[in-house]
Formats: sequence, C-alpha cells, structure tokens
Amino acid sequence: MCGIVGYVGPQQAQNVVIEGLRRLEYRGYDSAGIAIVSDQAIQTRKKAGKLANLEAELVDSPISPSHTGIGHTRWATHGAPNDVNAHPHVSEDGTIAVIHNGIIENFAMLRDKLIAEGVTLRSQTDTEVVAHLLSKQMKSTPGLADALREVCQVLTGAFTLVVVHADTPDVVVAARRNSPLVVGRGDGENFLASDVAAFIAHTRNAIELGQDQIVEITPNSIEVTDFYGKPAEFTEYEVTWDAAAAEKGGFDLFMLKEIAEQPKAVADTLLGRIDKSGKVTLADLGLDDAFLKTIDKIIITACGTAYHSGLIAKYAIEHWTRIPCEVELASEFRYRDPILTPTTLVVAISQSGETMDTLMAMRYAREQGAKVLAICNSNGSTIPRESDAVIYTHAGPEIAVASTKAFLTQIVACYLFAMYLAQTRGTGYGKDAATVALELSDMPSMIDLVLDTTEGVKAIAKELIDKQSVLFLGRSVGFPVALEGALKLKELAYMHAEGFAAGELKHGPIALIEDGIPVFVVVPPQDDELHDKIVSNIQEVRARGALTIVLAEEGDESINEFSDHIIRLPKCPALMQPLVATVPLQIFSCEMATVKGYDVDQPRNLAKSVTVE
Ligand code: AGP
Repeated sequence: MCGIVGYVGPQQAQNVVIEGLRRLEYRGYDSAGIAIVSDQAIQTRKKAGKLANLEAELVDSPISPSHTGIGHTRWATHGAPNDVNAHPHVSEDGTIAVIHNGIIENFAMLRDKLIAEGVTLRSQTDTEVVAHLLSKQMKSTPGLADALREVCQVLTGAFTLVVVHADTPDVVVAARRNSPLVVGRGDGENFLASDVAAFIAHTRNAIELGQDQIVEITPNSIEVTDFYGKPAEFTEYEVTWDAAAAEKGGFDLFMLKEIAEQPKAVADTLLGRIDKSGKVTLADLGLDDAFLKTIDKIIITACGTAYHSGLIAKYAIEHWTRIPCEVELASEFRYRDPILTPTTLVVAISQSGETMDTLMAMRYAREQGAKVLAICNSNGSTIPRESDAVIYTHAGPEIAVASTKAFLTQIVACYLFAMYLAQTRGTGYGKDAATVALELSDMPSMIDLVLDTTEGVKAIAKELIDKQSVLFLGRSVGFPVALEGALKLKELAYMHAEGFAAGELKHGPIALIEDGIPVFVVVPPQDDELHDKIVSNIQEVRARGALTIVLAEEGDESINEFSDHIIRLPKCPALMQPLVATVPLQIFSCEMATVKGYDVDQPRNLAKSVTVE
C-alpha cells in the first residue's frame, strides 16, 4: 500500500514526483519523501504525516533542480511512522537512495550482518538495509542495475525497490517481487509507479513488470531483465481510464462518487455477458468447458469486503450449480491444511489484485494443484496475472479505501460465473435460467432507485451520531449484507458495530439488546420463506428497547409497527437483494463518518490495498 514514483526526463523531477505522490494518496500512508540526483549528489527530503508536510519542508529547505527523482508515501510496517523511518533511505556515503514497497522477510539477519561489519543504521526499517547492501555490492559490482540484481538474489519477502545513484543522473533502477510496479513510457521521458494513477497525466503507455524483474529507465530507454540479467519479455498496454475518472467528479468524496457510480459499475460488469435470451457468455475466461464439468468443489477466498461478496456468492453458486462451495478468509485459508484436488476450483476475489493475504492464499492453492479463478477490478494486477483464469469486474478505479462499487460488481461477477457454470454443466437455476439472467440485467436500474433513499438515510445517521454500538441483522444473503454494513461503520466511523445472522440472536447476542441500541435489519422479500422469521426477530429486539432501522421492500407493511425507521428497497428476487440492500448501509456509514468529521476517503490506520501479510 506504499506509493512509489520514479522519473527521468526533461521536466523538473520534484514537480513530477510530488504530483505523482498526490495521485497515490488514496493508498493510505503515514509519511512521505523524495530523493533527486543533482550535481553528482543525492538530495533527500522526508517527513512524517501527510504530503503537505513534505511540501512545506521543500519550501523551507529546497532541493536543487533535477531531472531524475524518486518519491514515496509510506504505510508503516517495520518501524514507527516518523521522519527517520520515512523513505527514501540512503547509504552511509549518501550516494544511493532507495524507496520500497513490501516487507523484506530476512531483513533482521541481513541487518545483523551489516552491523557486525560496522555499518551504522539510522532507522528501524527493512528498507535501509537494502541501501547499505547496495553500497557494499557496488564495491565489487559497479553498475547500479547489476548491483541491484545481486542484492535481490539474497532478499526474501515482498518488495518493489526503486533506486538512484549520485553518479548516474538520468538513470532510475527498480526491482519487483510480489509488490506492484508499472512503467510509464513517455516521449523522451519515462516513469515508474506503484500504479498508473501516478503518471497517466503524462502518458497512457504502461508496462506491468513481472515477478522477479529488474527495470532500468533513462529518458529514452527501458530495459527489463530477470534477477540474473537475462533480458525479459514485457507487454505494453494502454491505460483506458483517464485522470478525470480518478478525480471526484463533482462529489465531495471519492466514496460518494463511487456509491453513485454503482448502477453504471454493475451495468458495465454485465455488459456483453448476458444476451437477450438470458445466455451467459464469459469471453477469455481461461477455463475450458471440459474442466468446468469436472469441478466438484469451489472454495472462495478473499479478505474484508471481498470476503463478504464471497459469502453472498456461495448461496447462488450452490443454488444454481449444486456444487459444494466454501468461503474462507484468505489469511486463514492456507494455514488450515485445506483439502484441495485438481477438481477443486479456488476463486480469489480482490478489488486491487494486490492483497497479499489473498495472493498468498491463491499461490498456495495452485501449489496444491487446484485451479484458481480471479475475480478482480484491477487489470494486469498480480492476482489475476498469476491465476489460471480471470473475470474482471468493470467498476473503474475505486479510490476510496472503503470498498463500495467493487463489492457490488464482485457479487455480479460471481453470479455470472455461477450461471455460466450451471449453463455449461446443464444444471437448472431452480427456475428458468433466462429469467434469472434477465433479473440480474435489471439490477442497475434497481440500484439507481435505492440511491433515492440517500437523504432519509443521512438523517438517520445524524440521529445516531452519539450511539456507542450498532448491530446489523440479516438472514440468508442478508446475513453477509449485515456483516458488510457493520464493517463499513467500523472502518469509516470508528464505531463498534457487529453483524449477526438473525437466527443466532437467541443463542447469545440478544443479551446485547438494551434500551435505545440501534439495530439495522435487512428483511428479505415478502414471498421469501425467511420473511416472517425475521419479522419475529425485529419484534424480539424492539420488545427489549432496540431502536429498529428496517430495510424492507416497497409494499411490505408487515414491519411497519415494529420499525422506528424504514428504508424502502425496490422489489427484486431474494438473491438479487444484496445489490440494493447494501447501498443504504454504505450511505449510512459514509454520512456518520462525515458528521463526525473523519477522513472518509482515507480512514485512520487503513490502506486501500494491504500488500503485506
Ligand atoms: C473494505 O471496505 C476494506 N477496504 C477492505 O476490507 C478490503 O475489502 C480488503 O482489504 C480486500 O481488498 P481487495 O478487494 O483489494 O483484495
């Protein structure tokens, strides 16, 4: 989740680097820094806190004009978020500057060796160790790129390293293992970044670096090799979304913009995948029909909100395909000795495609012989690149740390896959396949309708601003919606919140019910077999003093007398309801955080993509 920028070219490096770091702020960070090469010397400035602190430092203590520079926003892993631990880190002789994204797992051993050799380390970071290793290596391997290749061979863990040397202006060298790195090819200038947002104002020609690769850029050249110096193939692609798409588009918050984009995000994810007859097509899926017919178990693995989309998908997958489906937290999955066979399909769901827990889970699954399907929103990111197959969600860039449109499109992508599977294997959907597919096609307009509840939901947030705890109840696919509603409130408004399966209330959680405690309840459609049961649950909590906020479909009057607030949902089939019921819960948490005066787009302690385990 650190932000990385590198630049060589005719522009002032400081301007390009700082602007690039600003476009990466959404990734979440706690310090920032820059290094430039000028007059055979490295100059660095770095500050804890937001980018503005670094910019103020650059005013108080300017650096020289330069055409070669690197910059970093850090999300602390090793060492406190302070000035000393901020990147870049430099060698003892000050001739080498390094920035890093990831975790070097063997850094303690390497650090101890350096200390034993008399090196003085100034910070607590793993990154500084690399600066000293490079300095030592260059005594025997004079070329910067060659020295970095040698050093990378002794490192273990996840790292994107970007390096400059005082004696080689117009050269930036980088290495990539596990953490993302993209090259931007300009006209007489070249860029490096942790994601394309940092340089698409300058160029849309991007090169995604692969695993264990080194890249050396100058203003007019890009050379890619492996860690042993062997030239490596690379594919260039054009970045299709423009800088404006990543801006707020008139909203105060990226999150509000992305909530409003959900109808389009879902429509774009459905585009070209369901024909008028209700037939599902998944071009370039990457799994042939013969294999799809052999699958006898599906395991979905993901983190956070993506995990919740998997919990919802499970109901549809089992209902439509009759294939057993498990849903596992990625951080737990590979440590529980799971049973995987060549006919197990593991589905890795990830918005960023860089979540380390999910990446390591899918790698484990593949090592055990299972095939992996990625459901991902970030084209060319690590998880889909390393999977056997991929279904991209087309939500567009999701900048706010709290995931919204990605969540809905993950559910849609999972539903499309489940329908495609059922279609290919000839299992029914419980009712006419075309009907289900067309119901899904209607959902963008349903989501549009539920966006109209925004003002009412915002008023509820203001009413509940002083509450200490909020509960969320649901049944069937409404249960993961309750979990997602609780997660949103935790991560945005820093409030205690908990989601429960409503049927579990009587097994303990009902003891939490006291006078005035807010309880959100997601009520399934009136024709659903669970409807009356959850209405009873509402009565149970209301009778004990709960303040009930009930999400129920238009026309469902059965809940009126037990509801302190009603949020109306457009009528839709039970399995489709998460696509509309989630939206008011997103708006509620966004508004609660706003009225509390918190940083909604970049909540404390969180990062948009957690690229460490
Ligand atoms: C969701 O609002 C959170 N930001 C977080 O739980 C997120 O969903 C999780 O870290 C997984 O991220 P990914 O989808 O990029 O893998």
